[in-house]
Amino acid sequence: MCGIVGYIGKNNAAEILVDGLRKLEYRGYDSAGIAVFEDEGIKVVKAKGRLSDLEEKMKLAGVPKGCCGIGHTRWATHGEPSDVNSHPHGNSRVTLVHNGIIENYLEIKERLISKGYVFESETDTEAVAKLLDYYYDGNPFEAVKKVIQSVKGSYAFGMMFSDYPDQIFAVRKDSPMIVGLGEEENFIASDVPAILKYTKDYYLIDENEIVILKKDGVKVLNLDQEPIEKERQTATWDIEAAEKGGYPHFMLKEIFEQPEALRKTVAPRIKDGLPDLQVEAFTDELIRSVGKIHIVACGTASYAGMIGKCALEKLVRVPAEVCIASEFRYNDPILAPDDLVIVISQSGETADTLAALRLAKEKGIHTMAIVNVVGSSIAREADSIIYTWAGPEIAVASTKAYTVQMSVMYLIALKMALVRGTLTEEEVRRYCEIIQAMPEKQQDILAQSDTCQYFASRFQNAEHLFYIGRGLDYALSMEGSLKLKEISYIHSEAYAAGELKHGTISLITDHVPVVAVATQEHIYEKTISNIKEVTTRGAKVLLVVNDRFEVKDDIADYILRLPTTEDVLMPLLAVIPLQLFAYYTAVLRGCDVDKPRNLAKSVTVE
Ligand code: F6R
Repeated sequence: MCGIVGYIGKNNAAEILVDGLRKLEYRGYDSAGIAVFEDEGIKVVKAKGRLSDLEEKMKLAGVPKGCCGIGHTRWATHGEPSDVNSHPHGNSRVTLVHNGIIENYLEIKERLISKGYVFESETDTEAVAKLLDYYYDGNPFEAVKKVIQSVKGSYAFGMMFSDYPDQIFAVRKDSPMIVGLGEEENFIASDVPAILKYTKDYYLIDENEIVILKKDGVKVLNLDQEPIEKERQTATWDIEAAEKGGYPHFMLKEIFEQPEALRKTVAPRIKDGLPDLQVEAFTDELIRSVGKIHIVACGTASYAGMIGKCALEKLVRVPAEVCIASEFRYNDPILAPDDLVIVISQSGETADTLAALRLAKEKGIHTMAIVNVVGSSIAREADSIIYTWAGPEIAVASTKAYTVQMSVMYLIALKMALVRGTLTEEEVRRYCEIIQAMPEKQQDILAQSDTCQYFASRFQNAEHLFYIGRGLDYALSMEGSLKLKEISYIHSEAYAAGELKHGTISLITDHVPVVAVATQEHIYEKTISNIKEVTTRGAKVLLVVNDRFEVKDDIADYILRLPTTEDVLMPLLAVIPLQLFAYYTAVLRGCDVDKPRNLAKSVTVE
């Protein structure tokens, strides 16, 4: 949600900034801008639209020439996408880019207007830029310090002062920021992909540490201006991981990366055939004492949580509930001392999930996080952390992160089942073996991508669509439905298959198709009956079914038969055709699959 880059070094900054912004475009893409120190002062170019619009504008206005600059790609919060609302903001003395939300910006703005400042944009960021100017009396550190002591909300700021053409300043709170460490060049960025082409080494910046970036060095200071020793991190994946690698879209590449992501996430956590989560704080004693599990997350991550809930309840017989993080944090949740809160987040920066985690911690509940981005805020703050090793997920619509989140939930369930004795060691070993063999089965489904493309071509003109399923299939249907609507803009809803006739079936016509998921032996016949209810009313049906079940070819218009496995693990397979179906439908409708309208990855505002 908004991407920031900054560069200082020996090369022309503009190209490096635009290149970095391209890697961060998944964080927001409704406008972009850069500011570069030229000999005559800071030159700013900004434009509404995609990065290509900024590049066009730079061609006309002239590409800024200089070796120090900051850039921004925006996801609008305050003020519509427009040239004037784009970042950077500032004046002839200070220039600033921002990711986050300043809650008290109106107060600041009014104060500054009363002191004679004139505002051009509707953004909260401009208020901070002007405040920085107001506090600046020749000492940037003091000005930055006063700003962060005055603003409320979340921020990562990249800042330049005209008097200091060889320095970039940065600071963050509740929005991510890293510092890239190169040879005679250094960087700031919202995320690692922006710097990977230049360096794999970086620092993670903690809250309210003030960074001073120079060509030949980086200082990180606390608010008393004392230097902080930072630990050098090294990215474990290289630039190819953040490139499309021959695929037309990141989303398709990431769908195809799932077997590998699953292998990488699961293999290190199965030792001698049994789950070994390698989480020190998640002791057997703690596992035995857990009374109830609260799984808290947003969007796709919450749907992975729903699969986790089903697995935990089935395998461990422990009550589990899934709460949407934005609800959890304001609903005064009932938490008992022996409860466990599991938060799930790909980015590790989702504002609501982070707030929910903090709330649980405040209440003294043990918190465990399942996170993909190493060193992210959620990963750093949770009592126990389990990383998913999906590699960078660039497409806005989450795919491989979801699969590995589910796999970690399964491992947690198996570990708990073993410790609590709800499964025998032999049973747990069997499940572990099956999970380890899952990537090959996923590969077999991926080999059927053409079939999914064909199904998509049959449904691409629908304007409304329903997903139905029962139990785990219902949980999975929610994810399938979200995938379709977010990237293809087809309105779709997921329904518990048995619930349709309690009202919603009145919406079914021959123009409203249905995707039915039936992978669970004990209830698939019920779902088949529900399919009959909708086909009788004219709906065209695509059925995704466990190959083990004897289902007649004429039960649905289109049938995709999945390789079989233990029912509780079927979502690891069944999600793939749903992702491919959504992907191809969106492509056929001419949608911008990797950057759906209005969305951004990593939602760092509430
Ligand atoms: C949908 C999607 C979102 C995210 C949600 C949480 O495809 O990606 O629903 O799952 O915004 O994000 P994380 O997992 O980063 O907390």
